[in-house]
Amino acid sequence: MTEQDRQDNRDTSAPDESAQPQEKSGIRRKSLLKAALVAAPLPLLVGGAAPVLARDQARQGRVLTPTPEACDPGDPPTRQQTEGPYFRPNSPRRTSLVEPGTPGTRLTVTGYVFGLTCRPVPDALLDFWQADVNGAYDNTGYRFRGHQYSDAQGRFSLQTIVPGLYPGRTRHIHVKVQAPDNPVLTTQLYFPNEPRNNTDTIFHPSLLMTVRDVGSGREGSFDFVLNVRQDPDPPDPPGGTWAAGTSYRPGDTVTYGGATYRCLQGHTAAPGWEPPNVPALWQAV
Ligand SMILES: [Fe+2]
Repeated sequence: MTEQDRQDNRDTSAPDESAQPQEKSGIRRKSLLKAALVAAPLPLLVGGAAPVLARDQARQGRVLTPTPEACDPGDPPTRQQTEGPYFRPNSPRRTSLVEPGTPGTRLTVTGYVFGLTCRPVPDALLDFWQADVNGAYDNTGYRFRGHQYSDAQGRFSLQTIVPGLYPGRTRHIHVKVQAPDNPVLTTQLYFPNEPRNNTDTIFHPSLLMTVRDVGSGREGSFDFVLNVRQDPDPPDPPGGTWAAGTSYRPGDTVTYGGATYRCLQGHTAAPGWEPPNVPALWQAV
């Protein structure tokens, strides 16, 4: 399926203004899985140690690692919000909405796209659109509009500016997020410590980014949790000293699945001949 097909196939029906009652827990716990993800390519970020590391990564040209925050298996999906009147389909594919000379405070937004069990969702479509520094949308062209796909680890990174305010709303960035062959999540991201957060009836605190100042710009992070079922973790391997391909003699003992077995007949172990399956070969002791 081409990129254009995917864009065309998206369910762009406007969601209900009244967002779903589901919302993410206000208690943000670092998930073990996410910590593992962060640790895999880069040093583990602990607590609030992110800014220095993030700057270092940026200097090295790496994708910024977002602050580890919320995704625990069983968390509800990211809250849905209205797309508003300014969405335009067919945005260009790009991770930077900033052009040379673009006025405004530079903002980098990074994060992960997760499914319901907090596993990363690779190749998720993220389509961002926002107002310019003056609070105006480009309704004839594609300034401050762009889509991208999460990487193999579910990460995304957007280069943009802090959007301006316009009447009736607090500061926000619109986004549609879609896992391959799944429905679209339409929502909005918000900035902490904005006075209008208290008066904007669409605003919801579960959609606040973590934002910090970095030099003359800002860095925001947010993790999406899509309503996408993911297979549960595979069961732990039974473990033990038994191994296929090994020659066993009568009287040898092995462990398998937490139990100990004694070999009754000499044989070379093979898959399917695990001790619990072949009482003629192994006796539990
Ligand atoms: Fe808007």
